[in-house]
Amino acid sequence: MRIAICGLGHVGIVTAAGLLRDGHTVIGMDSDGAVCDVVKSGLSPFREPEVGEIIAAGHSEGRLSIADGLSEIAEADVAFICVGTRGLPDGRLDLSDLQAASQTLGEAVRLRPAELPPILLVFRSTMVPGSMSTAVIPTLRAAAGETPGQCYNVAYQPEFMREGCALADYFAPARIVIGEQSPGTAGKLKDLYANINAPIVTTSLETAELIKFADNSFHALKVCFANEMGRLAVSSGVGASELLQLFCMDTKLNLSAAYLRPGGAFGGPCLAKDVLALAQHMKTSGISAPIIDHIIPSNQAHTDFLISEIKRRTPLRSRILLVGLSFKANTDDVRQSPLADLAQRLLTDGYDLAVYDSDLVASDGKLQLAPWLAKIVLQQIQANDTWDLVVIGKRQPSAIKMLNSSIPVLNIDRL
Ligand SMILES: NC(=O)c1ccc[n+]([C@@H]2O[C@H](COP(=O)([O-])OP(=O)(O)OC[C@H]3O[C@@H](n4cnc5c(N)ncnc54)[C@H](O)[C@@H]3O)[C@@H](O)[C@H]2O)c1
Repeated sequence: MRIAICGLGHVGIVTAAGLLRDGHTVIGMDSDGAVCDVVKSGLSPFREPEVGEIIAAGHSEGRLSIADGLSEIAEADVAFICVGTRGLPDGRLDLSDLQAASQTLGEAVRLRPAELPPILLVFRSTMVPGSMSTAVIPTLRAAAGETPGQCYNVAYQPEFMREGCALADYFAPARIVIGEQSPGTAGKLKDLYANINAPIVTTSLETAELIKFADNSFHALKVCFANEMGRLAVSSGVGASELLQLFCMDTKLNLSAAYLRPGGAFGGPCLAKDVLALAQHMKTSGISAPIIDHIIPSNQAHTDFLISEIKRRTPLRSRILLVGLSFKANTDDVRQSPLADLAQRLLTDGYDLAVYDSDLVASDGKLQLAPWLAKIVLQQIQANDTWDLVVIGKRQPSAIKMLNSSIPVLNIDRL
């Protein structure tokens, strides 16, 4: 394929190298004339393993050039936009280069020969969710004089490469995520990545924008968590590396998908108690631990969020059935259950609340309940019961089957 690349920085040049190695033809453009001159002479502007050699070979084979004008870009099958989105002092991302590039690409679309199928414009720059819809597409639409779908389509493909092993990451990604404006519009990308052995997932533009931040924030969180534990280990005379090696040996709960499911807050007799004890211990040991300190506030913030979601759906004094009370499925333990906390707050706020939990019904668990809670726990529910809202707090398939399917449901166990 003929591929245009707008922005020949780290991401653009590695993408160029990957595509050249797969036999494609690349036409580059960059607003920095010095970068263009370097590429025109067959060199890579950056040091990155293997990239220089591939750029040089692509150039000498005539498959890598710098665009002389927009008409060369206009005739490409696919264009990648890899311009920078640097951070501003207040933390927001500067989208000005991205908008300038969108303007240029929109102008190129106007020059596209009518007989060619739509060009696919693939944005790779990191941008917060909603930026494609609010900043990029309106700029493109104005410059191209038409909405996507006829002469051009748009996609957002977040870039996950790491400098220093960027080309290796290009050819062996964990997965390729493609955000589409409407299903199927980015089909050409699947052909382009046919040689790459990785799952290709298509999703909405916003999900594709957000996954990049979820990934990067989690990576940063891992570094800082390991360092908080390391600081405590060092000050306790414990081997920090040994501690983290032991931690990483648990691939069942620590390094796995366990717990990585948005739903209810955590609770139960151990987690909150132990996290608080660790935070306190670090404080008295004089060790700064902002992550550990903020786990409980984050958990409380989540219950606040769930309450606000309930309030958004149903006015005060409505009849609500909360399905689930113990702190997780298959136990009747209600100690420090976030669902008991939720129930108390809904009652205090004036909702007409009842609770059903088959784990409590099946045992004597009800005996553990505080009197205010015992009063609202039902022994059974029936299909003809009427509720303004059913809130599913934990997995209770048999209970949910019993409910009238016309009643509105909010599942907070699985957001
Ligand atoms: N560097 C990385 O490891 C990495 C990894 C993943 C994602 N990203 C993201 O990818 C994007 C690009 O990052 P980068 O490190 O390659 O940036 P970079 O600063 O190295 O390169 C950007 C290039 O775009 C050019 N440019 C700017 N405006 C232009 C325009 N209007 N038209 C043409 N060219 C223009 C610049 O001259 C520069 O050469 C950023 O959003 C970044 O956050 C970077």
